[in-house]
Amino acid sequence: MGLLKFSWVILFCWVFLLLRLKALSDGSEVTVNFLKAPLAFSHLNSATFVFEVLVGGNGDTCSNCRITCKLDERIPSDCEAGEVSYSDLQEGNHIFEVCTNGSQGVGCASYNWTVDTVPPTAYVTASTSFTNALNVSVNISFSEPCTGGGGFGCSSVNACNLLVYGAGQVMPSSLNILQPNLKFSVLVGLSTNVQYGRVILVMDKNFCTDSAGNKFARSTNSSFFVHFDSQRPAVKLSTTSNIRTREHRVPISIKFMKPVFGFNSSHISISGGHLQSFHEMSRSIYTVEIQADNDFLSINVPENITGDVAGNKNLPSNVLQVRHYSVPLITSVISIFATASFVATSVSCRSAHYFDCMPSVC
Ligand SMILES: *[C@@H]1O[C@H](CO)[C@@H](O)[C@H](O)[C@H]1NC(C)=O
Ligand SMILES: *[C@@H]1O[C@H](CO)[C@@H](O)[C@H](O)[C@H]1NC(C)=O
Ligand SMILES: *[C@@H]1O[C@H](CO)[C@@H](O)[C@H](O)[C@H]1NC(C)=O
Ligand SMILES: *[C@@H]1O[C@H](CO)[C@@H](O)[C@H](O)[C@H]1NC(C)=O
Ligand SMILES: *[C@@H]1O[C@H](CO)[C@@H](O)[C@H](O)[C@H]1NC(C)=O
Ligand SMILES: *[C@@H]1O[C@H](CO)[C@@H](O)[C@H](O)[C@H]1NC(C)=O
Ligand SMILES: *[C@@H]1O[C@H](CO)[C@@H](O)[C@H](O)[C@H]1NC(C)=O
Repeated sequence: MGLLKFSWVILFCWVFLLLRLKALSDGSEVTVNFLKAPLAFSHLNSATFVFEVLVGGNGDTCSNCRITCKLDERIPSDCEAGEVSYSDLQEGNHIFEVCTNGSQGVGCASYNWTVDTVPPTAYVTASTSFTNALNVSVNISFSEPCTGGGGFGCSSVNACNLLVYGAGQVMPSSLNILQPNLKFSVLVGLSTNVQYGRVILVMDKNFCTDSAGNKFARSTNSSFFVHFDSQRPAVKLSTTSNIRTREHRVPISIKFMKPVFGFNSSHISISGGHLQSFHEMSRSIYTVEIQADNDFLSINVPENITGDVAGNKNLPSNVLQVRHYSVPLITSVISIFATASFVATSVSCRSAHYFDCMPSVC
């Protein structure tokens, strides 16, 4: 091996590449001409090398040369024919080595290249899936640089590689490069004309290629849905079924226009009574019982004590007022004629006690 030292000149043209092996001491020279080799970044998982080994200043083909070819850590093979192919190559870096061992010299030349057959893709994420804001921040993260064909761009609403479907549009001036060629952020403005809806954010198609020439491809996370809603949840209190009760206990239903989070019993404002029970029937329907302590009960849900998934705080509820009154038995029999079972239990009473909803608010 000490006889020869080599250096090479690599001509970066499609298939032609020249490796030069130079002799030091005896003036002889071994040259490897690569007539065909894969690109430095190849989107093929196969590779074919065609080469010739020349010796001496006149570039004679090498007779009596033993030529071996070696791929990565594989066992070397004879390749006097000057051609060798490999297939089923794994992703990543590879090294190909040609060695000669003959009377005119001993030496090796190698060629490195990278196999990349995986198309580049990008993931889209927004700061939130549900919002009541006027805009959302969107991150676009590429799996690898995708700069062939100009790469990711968003110069105007109509020339942006992030597509927005629905009641919103991209705000190109907000484009920000978080990591060159890999990560970008941009704001998407949501329509103020529409109270609720959704926008779909999705990567463009085929707009760039990676260094090996693989075309951009969408994948599962190349799109993102943003639901927007600026409607504050309304809430209504009402008495359930027959309120005429002698139990001094008033059943109430609390209905939100849409599901809310974190609503609990301590959020109900009560005067003239106290909470007896609280049941969550669903995220938007609650039933409670209020025990009356006075003749007048007033119950309401104040505004902004709970919110929906988009962050809207609730509107104030109606104020439910309940009055306790006593009436002579004869009157009560007429007024609650329909509620037979109650009449039966009231017969022995001199008068009946009722809670009733004030007509103006029920
Ligand atoms: C070259 O070939 C000769 C004879 O086959 C062998 O003895 C020698 O070890 C080889 N040298 C190298 C560097 O492979
Ligand atoms: C080829 O790759 C090997 C190992 O990955 C490295 O040591 C060598 O310097 C590379 N050669 C060239 C010409 O890039
Ligand atoms: C976008 O990326 C930045 C930096 O990595 C991060 O701080 C931010 O939370 C990300 N935003 C979204 C919407 O994912
Ligand atoms: C984005 O929306 C927020 C509130 O929703 C607003 O304060 C901010 O100014 C908006 N940004 C842009 C660039 O419009
Ligand atoms: C897509 O996003 C989901 C949720 O964030 C995650 O669980 C999944 O692993 C992602 N898929 C890919 C291919 O990155
Ligand atoms: C009700 O929710 C509030 C937060 O809004 C919390 O501070 C409080 O502890 C909760 N009370 C009960 C009884 O769960
Ligand atoms: C409740 O929140 C709204 C905004 O969502 C605000 O305009 C209003 O002043 C708030 N009311 C109270 C009593 O804090």
